[in-house]
Amino acid sequence: MPARAAQLRSCLAVPLALGARRLAARENPMTDRYAVIGNPIAHSKSPLIHTAFARALGEDIEYTRIEGPLDGFAAAALAFRDALGKGLNVTVPFKVQAFELATDRHEAARIAGAANALKFTGSRIEAENFDGVGLVHDIERNLGVSLRGRRVLCLGAGGAVRGAVPPILARATTEVVIANRTVATAQTLAGQFSARGRVTACGYTDLAHEQGFDVVINGTSASLNAVLPPVPAAVFGNAALAYDMVYGKGLTPFLRLAREAGAARCADGVGMLVEQAAEAFVWWRGVRPDTRPVIDQLTVPLA
Ligand code: ATR
Repeated sequence: MPARAAQLRSCLAVPLALGARRLAARENPMTDRYAVIGNPIAHSKSPLIHTAFARALGEDIEYTRIEGPLDGFAAAALAFRDALGKGLNVTVPFKVQAFELATDRHEAARIAGAANALKFTGSRIEAENFDGVGLVHDIERNLGVSLRGRRVLCLGAGGAVRGAVPPILARATTEVVIANRTVATAQTLAGQFSARGRVTACGYTDLAHEQGFDVVINGTSASLNAVLPPVPAAVFGNAALAYDMVYGKGLTPFLRLAREAGAARCADGVGMLVEQAAEAFVWWRGVRPDTRPVIDQLTVPLA
């Protein structure tokens, strides 16, 4: 298909994707509209999560998926806003573009340089990023592992870890170590966050003699491809928790190694997913949903 035709088709896909739910909203103009935008997007659990929150709280919203054209994120987001959309969740690959589109950027989004949620109020477009706070809430509230006074190892230095480190440091950890394949990226991150607490950077080989981590978090994209980052088993020896940010993939190679190496507890990122959604829901609607039933519904056993 010629490029222009493909572009047109993907623009048309936005209203088509909204489908019957949008019609329902038009029938009731009081229904507030939200959506998740990404590409691909068919896999997204956000509609299920937000619809469950809304049903439990009696909130009158509709929540749909939008497959944003790869070369047309801003147009798709603005078209949704112009059709009286109130807010968007934003996922891969549009988080940086969403940040750039915003007129008002809240602190977590500024730190991450990326937004995972937008709020539309008149001509204002506010950007937030709830990924990091979602992770911390899942670890501390749901999994019952306090980060206070703990030594935390984060694997990876991409967008996921960039968003996670500041809220982790804010929990008064003793130290956060960022280990990355490309050590320079980890060093840059550690340098950016050094005023917030003790944070250091290293490569995977430097971890060979490290044993004193309480929490080990995999924030690399390796688990998406069932690949194990080159982390030595010894780092899990005293760990209260090994946490993989991916979800729905069962026992990833990272979690399998952690379990075999003695980590007391293993968790994937389903709780982080639901907790970041809950933060967006509170931001948009002003009411806090109970996350537990939705986490239970989405949990895939780590077997
Ligand atoms: P995200 O926004 O999901 O964090 P990203 O910014 O592309 O994605 O970052 C991916 C991270 O996973 C990076 O830290 C990357 O390491 P490099 O900076 O060295 O590229 C890391 N990563 C990806 N595949 C990996 C693998 N097989 N082993 C170890 N680290 C990996």
